[in-house]
Amino acid sequence: MTSPNSPVSRPVPTRPLGATGPRVSAIGLGAMGMSALYGDSDRSESIATIHAALDAGVTLIDTGDFYGMGHNEMLIGEALRAAPAADREKSLVSVKFGALRDPDGGWSGYDGRPAAVKNFAAYSLQRLGTDHIDVYRIARVDPDVPVEETVGAIAELVEAGHVRHIGLSEVGAETLRRAASVAPIADLQIEYSLISRGIEDAILPTARELGVGVTAYGVLSRGLISGHFSGDRKLAANDFRGMSPRFQGDNLRHNLELVEQLRKIAEQKGVSVAQLAIAWVLSRGEDVVPLVGARRRDRLAEALAALDVTFGEDELAAIERAVPRGAAAGERYPAAQMAHLDSEH
Ligand SMILES: NC(=O)c1ccc[n+]([C@@H]2O[C@H](COP(=O)([O-])OP(=O)(O)OC[C@H]3O[C@@H](n4cnc5c(N)ncnc54)[C@H](OP(=O)(O)O)[C@@H]3O)[C@@H](O)[C@H]2O)c1
Repeated sequence: MTSPNSPVSRPVPTRPLGATGPRVSAIGLGAMGMSALYGDSDRSESIATIHAALDAGVTLIDTGDFYGMGHNEMLIGEALRAAPAADREKSLVSVKFGALRDPDGGWSGYDGRPAAVKNFAAYSLQRLGTDHIDVYRIARVDPDVPVEETVGAIAELVEAGHVRHIGLSEVGAETLRRAASVAPIADLQIEYSLISRGIEDAILPTARELGVGVTAYGVLSRGLISGHFSGDRKLAANDFRGMSPRFQGDNLRHNLELVEQLRKIAEQKGVSVAQLAIAWVLSRGEDVVPLVGARRRDRLAEALAALDVTFGEDELAAIERAVPRGAAAGERYPAAQMAHLDSEH
């Protein structure tokens, strides 16, 4: 049963996180935007959103220790402590580590050395206020450290009881195989949406072959294909989208035209553009779990309603015609950040 305040009328269904991971809610909550990268957010609304998600049956919450330099983990820890015990016990927190920051908010690479992995984990456990991390992954592979060593260090944390499952983030098929040869990998977290479909060639088939689940992020392309983004929106100086190629000038105009094509299909179906985009990712397979970056309860309610949206073959074909693979203008990250993506090499 969900409570009377829940944004959904029935409990959120679950999906397996790969062959070796836990079952999790079919949609996970990505908490990044509550602390960083999308401009200012409202702390009490963020906590209320986490509580509404748990209440609705969302069990997977995703964070990174570098989202606001620990802010996001402390926020989640606070929200979980204030949540009903039954919700807290069902919740699983997935943590990314490895990004090196500086006091001005700059990014200075990734550290996947085994000693660093254990150091990052020790701090995350304190900030989350828990004795274990449910899924732990390096955000980007460290080019100076073989992935086997980084994953091996997480496997030792599993052995010691500090971590339950191992994940990966933004790796290509070959790295996925190397990592999976060291220890069972529950899931690969990677961008996947109507306008970011690069994983379909080699990465998704390899994940399937190895029994690795996919937690898809950017399913709304950071709001671009949510139906709520407009060309005249003013972005704060600290908003990632101000630097993202897909949100610039002609690229943005082109991409928002794609959204208008999607809006026509969504309106015919009686759903919102965001729901169509999330439901499309849900339709890719039971092994794909979208993470939605809702940071307000109304956005969360909209996102969770996507669980009730299914498509016929004709509708999928219409979506494909509206937004063919590769239709978006602009890369998904600025060039310097693309260089860190093992998945793009
Ligand atoms: N592994 C990685 O490399 C990586 C990278 C990025 C993110 N992630 C994880 O994935 C999560 C999701 O990523 P994301 O936040 O970029 O993805 P997203 O869900 O594509 O985008 C979230 C943005 O969409 C907007 N939006 C509009 N309608 C929405 C709705 N109904 N529900 C949710 N959002 C809506 C939000 O806008 P407003 O809040 O402005 O309304 C927010 O700015 C992150 O929180 C993070 O945990 C992982």
